[in-house]
Amino acid sequence: MEDPIKYFISRKKRKEKKYLRNMLPFCKRYMGYIFVAFLAITLTAASTLLLGVGLRKIVDNGLLTQFNLIITYMGVIVLVLGTATYLRYTFVSWLAEKIIGDVRKKIYAHLLSLSPGFFERLSTGELLSRMNVDTTLLQALVSTSIPIAIRNFMLIIGGVLLMFKTSMYLSVLMLSIIPVLLTVVYYMGQRIRRLTTNTQRVVAELSSYSEETLNAVRTVQAFCHEEEDKKAYNERVQSLVAAAYKRIKARAIMSTMVVFLVFGSITLIVHLGVGQVAGKFITLGELTSFLFYGLNVGWSISNFIEVFSDVQKAAGASQRIFELLEVRSSVKLREDPVKIPKPSDGEILFDQVSFSYSEFSDAQALIDFSMHVKPGQKVALVGPSGSGKTTVFHLLMRFYDPTVGNIYYDTLDLKDLSPTDIRSQMAIVPQEPVVFSASAYDNIRYGSPNANFDAVRAAAEAALVTEFVDRLPKGYYSYLGSRGVTLSTGQRQRIAIARALLKNPRVLLLDEATSALDAQSERLVQKALEALMEDRTTLMIAHRLSTVLKADYIIVLNHGRIEAIGTHDELMRQKGLYKRLANLQYLSAN
Ligand SMILES: Nc1ncnc2c1ncn2[C@@H]1O[C@H](COP(=O)(O)OP(=O)(O)O)[C@@H](O)[C@H]1O
Ligand SMILES: [Mg+2]
Repeated sequence: MEDPIKYFISRKKRKEKKYLRNMLPFCKRYMGYIFVAFLAITLTAASTLLLGVGLRKIVDNGLLTQFNLIITYMGVIVLVLGTATYLRYTFVSWLAEKIIGDVRKKIYAHLLSLSPGFFERLSTGELLSRMNVDTTLLQALVSTSIPIAIRNFMLIIGGVLLMFKTSMYLSVLMLSIIPVLLTVVYYMGQRIRRLTTNTQRVVAELSSYSEETLNAVRTVQAFCHEEEDKKAYNERVQSLVAAAYKRIKARAIMSTMVVFLVFGSITLIVHLGVGQVAGKFITLGELTSFLFYGLNVGWSISNFIEVFSDVQKAAGASQRIFELLEVRSSVKLREDPVKIPKPSDGEILFDQVSFSYSEFSDAQALIDFSMHVKPGQKVALVGPSGSGKTTVFHLLMRFYDPTVGNIYYDTLDLKDLSPTDIRSQMAIVPQEPVVFSASAYDNIRYGSPNANFDAVRAAAEAALVTEFVDRLPKGYYSYLGSRGVTLSTGQRQRIAIARALLKNPRVLLLDEATSALDAQSERLVQKALEALMEDRTTLMIAHRLSTVLKADYIIVLNHGRIEAIGTHDELMRQKGLYKRLANLQYLSAN
């Protein structure tokens, strides 16, 4: 299957493979800091190499003359090296945190701005992995791999120059092993990378398996499924260990080969070098410093290649992260949206609207739907499950734009308005009420963060929330558990109603608002809702006859089409779908 995210990225953008270049805009703000970090890296590389010069002097004449001077020189270099290492480490790590922090903030803000259609196509696990695992990879790149690569690059260039300056003959010999070294590290590195990807895949499987089962622990236990789950989980752990073992072995082989090559050639150089010293072509000190440079260059090269593969891995991660930023909302926003004049009237007009959730499917959720709701009117939508009632709300809140036709709010085309502006006129009690992991107080205040305690209490009172909240250990400040698990569906629904009441909107949208309540609570909550409906435009999706009776008129939907419009009495006389549903006392099968 095609990567679902690609679907939301324009064709032109999809082809561009910018990889790490995407990071540049995030680095711009910190140019000054980056310069200091670069300086610290240069300083560590330079002082490492300068140690070689000190070494030469000590061996050649340090023991005879200028002993104190040379020791002081070495001491200073070591001090500079230490300080620069400290600076490099703290500075670069801190910088990486800041840069990746900015990336995270930007991605989260961007995701919040996308229309719900995007999230329907993507698994939350996939999104979370991009937001967390991939950003962590990128952070490791910025804080470790790139600085090490730069330092090693400097060590290689500087080291090779100093080697040639010391002895042309030995340099040519020593450098001839470099192609061998490169080949070994390159091929083994590739193998290790493949094995690493494999491990990552198994880790992802492991975490998604445990996430799913732990989230559904009640079902697992109710069906005594623990043994099966344990077995399946253990198998995955086993394959993780096996994958890790292969990787570790490959890495060990590579390290061993590098050690052999580097020390083998050093031994050879010592052997030949002694001949050079005997022939008075170079001094003993020069040979010592040459070996020092050679060692540094050898290690740096093998390190550099390893880090290079990390960079490639992070490039993949960065691609996955920045793709998210290319995703465009399917709701087209205007640069200069028209503002809804305040206070707004709350007039709603659907003009021959058709809509389908997917552009690839012929299934239409709404077909040729027209509706005019005057300010303050109450309209009920009824119809069987899947007939398109909730879709009307989705379109009105501009979670999606109609495929055909237009929607107007106070005679303004919804396409010219900003979704936030539209939504701030409305409050919805959704079919599946959502309670966040926070206190009852914060949950009710969700849409009106400035509301004071008295207002919250009044809304809670009206929605019959007080009744159960007062019984909680800390009352309004009791934590409701993750996703509100401590509440029953009916209680969650009442929290949602209180939330809508508190928002005090121009337009009220009730989607089966009281469906999960028992008959008695429903009657009480219904009273509160009726008070709320007063001088407000209200659209209600209703399943009980008693609710529908209070509407100015009723729209009967069937398979996305309007089947009939009228008052209860008119519809009952038509003997159509409405009458059949009404006789069952149940107007929608949700
Ligand atoms: N997010 C979605 N993606 C694809 N199809 C959807 C989505 N939501 C609803 N549908 C489909 O659209 C139709 C109307 O759904 P909906 O408006 O929720 O019906 P109702 O609220 O009347 O039960 C149904 O056939 C449903 O399967
Ligand atoms: Mg519905």
